[in-house]
Amino acid sequence: MSLLFGTSVWLVSGPAEVRQVLSAKEAFSNNPTGLRHISPALPDQELGGLGMCDPPLHTRMRQMLAPEFTARGLRRLEPAIRDIVAEQLDLMAAAPQPVDLVQTFAWPVPARTICELLGVPAADLDTFRRLSTRRFDIVAGLDAQLGAVSSAQLRLERLIADERRDPGSGLLGTLVTRGADLDDRTLAGLADGVLTGGLETSAGMITLGTLLLLRDPEARERATDSRTVGALTEELLRDLSVVQVAFPRYALTDVKIGSHQISKGDVVLCSLLRANRRTGADTKAAGTGAEARAAGTGADGPRGDRRHMAFGHGVHRCLGAELARMELRIAYQALFERYPRMRLAIDEREIPFHGLAMVYGLQRLPVDLGLCDS
Ligand code: HEM
Repeated sequence: MSLLFGTSVWLVSGPAEVRQVLSAKEAFSNNPTGLRHISPALPDQELGGLGMCDPPLHTRMRQMLAPEFTARGLRRLEPAIRDIVAEQLDLMAAAPQPVDLVQTFAWPVPARTICELLGVPAADLDTFRRLSTRRFDIVAGLDAQLGAVSSAQLRLERLIADERRDPGSGLLGTLVTRGADLDDRTLAGLADGVLTGGLETSAGMITLGTLLLLRDPEARERATDSRTVGALTEELLRDLSVVQVAFPRYALTDVKIGSHQISKGDVVLCSLLRANRRTGADTKAAGTGAEARAAGTGADGPRGDRRHMAFGHGVHRCLGAELARMELRIAYQALFERYPRMRLAIDEREIPFHGLAMVYGLQRLPVDLGLCDS
């Protein structure tokens, strides 16, 4: 526990305690406007987006988006994701070698997928990419982070206003129809959460996952087999936990977590990475595993062991989890099927990681595709 302008901040890392905090929706708020006494840079009105609001508003807004994010709702997107992945793989081969996997594959795949899902023009991609990286960059400072949030928000507000006049078939069009009574700012906040929630995170998983697979021939074999790539993806999600810490929670009331007394007004940070790596305790907290095995979701089932918290837990659990899983399975499998001889083009010690960022990832991953090997 440390003190920040008189406010106590807790770091919770035990799997059971993390689950307890993330599911106690009456005891904790996600809305940072209650913390303006810590930083006047925080806005005095709602930032918008699912991740920063509480029920009942959160419940209503999440219900507006949820049907598009179920495994069934996402089926229509799968052929588009396969096409995007195949196109990016072609572009990698056509680019001067060695190629940067981040620029040519790990970023464009999730970015183009989300544009497809939302119905956002591909011409806006670069702007959103720049703003997305900046908002998760702690080194840039809170003012720069919030500036990036509001620039993305303004651009989305303009797109929402266009959709109101002529709703398209993408998620933006669905939002203006389902949320006709909500203002442009609220809808733009929702779209912004989807856009940024799925960029840095999936890109980080593709790049870091590829780095681990390049080190491990046995794991690469599992990546190229449709029967095992699902389970491998779950292991990578758990192991890498690219969202290392969940959004801060603010205690609305005095509450006991584990053996510690948290007071109203305290800030609580949950380490998903730490909780996920304490696997023995985590599995115990989630049950015996018999049910998971029966559903094919245990460690040995085709869908893998899904009892990790890489996507969080409770009402704010990742809305895009099934989309991310689909993207990752398709991306890992296609990448290693197409370029089985791919290898690192620089010394592993020189790989530039993001500095102090809220989402773990690499700035660049130069690879040699092995095209000249016979
Ligand atoms: C591997 C990729 C991803 C990871 C590891 C990830 C992780 C997470 C985590 C840990 C949370 C919960 C944070 C908290 O409780 O404080 C979250 C929430 C969220 N994620 Fe993801 N995410 C991923 C991909 C995506 C994608 C592809 C989308 C959408 C296209 C998305 C949209 C969201 C949204 C909208 C929320 C807020 C949900 C709510 O508050 O109700 N995420 N994500």
